Amino acid sequence: MLATTTTTAARRPATAGGTPVRGEYLTFGRPHLDEVAIDEVLKTLRSGWIGTGPKTAQFEAELAAYLGVKHVVAVNSCTAALHISLVAAGIGPGDDVLVPAMTFVATANAVLHAGARPVLCDVDPVSQMATSAHLAAAVTPHTQAIVPVHFAGRAADMTDILDFAWRKGCLVINDAAHAIETRHAGRNISGQGAMSCYSFYPTKNLTTGEGGAVATDDDALADRLRMLRLHGLSADAWKRYSDTGFKHYEAVALGFKCNMTDVQASLGLPQLARIEEWSRRRMSIWTRYNEAFATLPVTTPAGWPAADRHALHLYTLMLDLDRLSANRDTIAHALHLEGVGTGVHYRGLHLQPLYRDRYNLRPEMFPTASRISAQTLSIPLSPALSDRDVDDVTEAVQRVLTHFAR
Ligand SMILES: Cc1ncc(COP(=O)(O)O)c(C=O)c1O
Repeated sequence: MLATTTTTAARRPATAGGTPVRGEYLTFGRPHLDEVAIDEVLKTLRSGWIGTGPKTAQFEAELAAYLGVKHVVAVNSCTAALHISLVAAGIGPGDDVLVPAMTFVATANAVLHAGARPVLCDVDPVSQMATSAHLAAAVTPHTQAIVPVHFAGRAADMTDILDFAWRKGCLVINDAAHAIETRHAGRNISGQGAMSCYSFYPTKNLTTGEGGAVATDDDALADRLRMLRLHGLSADAWKRYSDTGFKHYEAVALGFKCNMTDVQASLGLPQLARIEEWSRRRMSIWTRYNEAFATLPVTTPAGWPAADRHALHLYTLMLDLDRLSANRDTIAHALHLEGVGTGVHYRGLHLQPLYRDRYNLRPEMFPTASRISAQTLSIPLSPALSDRDVDDVTEAVQRVLTHFAR
C-alpha cells in the first residue's frame, strides 16, 4: 500500500516562485536495476564470453516461455527488430505498410529502412490506437503489412485488426515496444500476428540497456530473423569461437549487425523473473494516480476490456486545455521546476518534418492524433519509484494543474 499524502495543491508551485516539491530530480522512466541484475552482468563480464552466447540463448528461451511463443530472436533494439521483421517478411520497395500516427518515429523509420512506404492512419480517441476503421481509411492497393502499436501497454483490438488483415491479405507485425505483459482476449499479444517486436530501452518495463527482440511462432521466419541479425550468416554462426570446435560460416544473404550480447541478456534475465511483481507495483501506482487526479482538469488513462491485460508502461494524462491557462509544454516545464521529469508520447508522426514534408501531411488529416499530440503528458510510472516519489509526483501534478486551472 502506498502512503497517503495530505493535499497541498493550494501551495504555490515553483513556476510561481514557490519551493519545489523535490530537491533531488526524479527522472522520467528510471530503470529498476537491483543488485541481482548487477551481479549477473558482473558474472558475465568475468566469464570471458561477452558477445552473443549462452546468456542470450537463455534470455530468448525464458522470454519465449513468458510470452507463450515458439521463438524469440534477441537483437540490439526494437527498431532493429521491426526492420528485420519487415525484411524477413519480404516487405520492400513498392510495398505500403500501415502505421498509426501516434507512435515513436522508429515504427515508421523501420518501414523506410526496409525500402517500403509507411502510410499513416489516425487513431481512436479513447484507446489512442488504430482500429480497422482507421486502417480501412488509409489502406492502398499496395498495402502488404500492418504494424499495430500497443500504445502505452494497452492491447490493440487484435480480433478486429487480424480480421481486417485477413480480408486484405496483409501481414501483421506488432510494435510491442511497450507491451511485454499485454494480453488481448486472454492471450499474450505476442502470438497474435506474424511477428511481435519488443524494446528493452532504459525506460521500458524490462531493460537490457539497449535491446530488442522479435517473437514468432513461425519456424521459417525465426530462421530468417536469426540469419538477418548477424550479417546474413548461416544459423548458429555466433558459435564459431565457442568451445564446441572450429566451424565455418557461410554468408547466405545480405544481413545486418544487430545481435544482442550476453552482457545485455544478463541484465534482462533477473528483470524477467520479477516482471509480475513489478506489474503489481505499477498497478498500485496507477490506481493511486487515478484517484489523486480525478477532479483535476485532465483525463486519466482509459480503462480496458476485462479479457485484456494492460502492461501499464506509460501513465499518460490528457490535459483538458479548455480548462487550463497553459499549454502542455508550459505544464511539463512547471513539473520540471518541481523536480519531476515527464515525457511526451507522442507528437504524432504526421507532425514530424521527415514525414510531414515527405508525404505532404497536414494536422487536419489526422484530427485525433493532432489533438492527442497537443494534450498528452506522461508522468513517472516505474517500480523503481518509492512511495515518497509517488507522493511527490502526485503533489507536483496537483499543485501545477491547480495553479493553471481556469
Ligand atoms: C512504440 C515504440 N516503437 C519502437 C521503439 C523503438 O525502440 P528501441 O529504442 O528499442 O529501438 C520505441 C522506443 O521507445 C517505441 O516506444
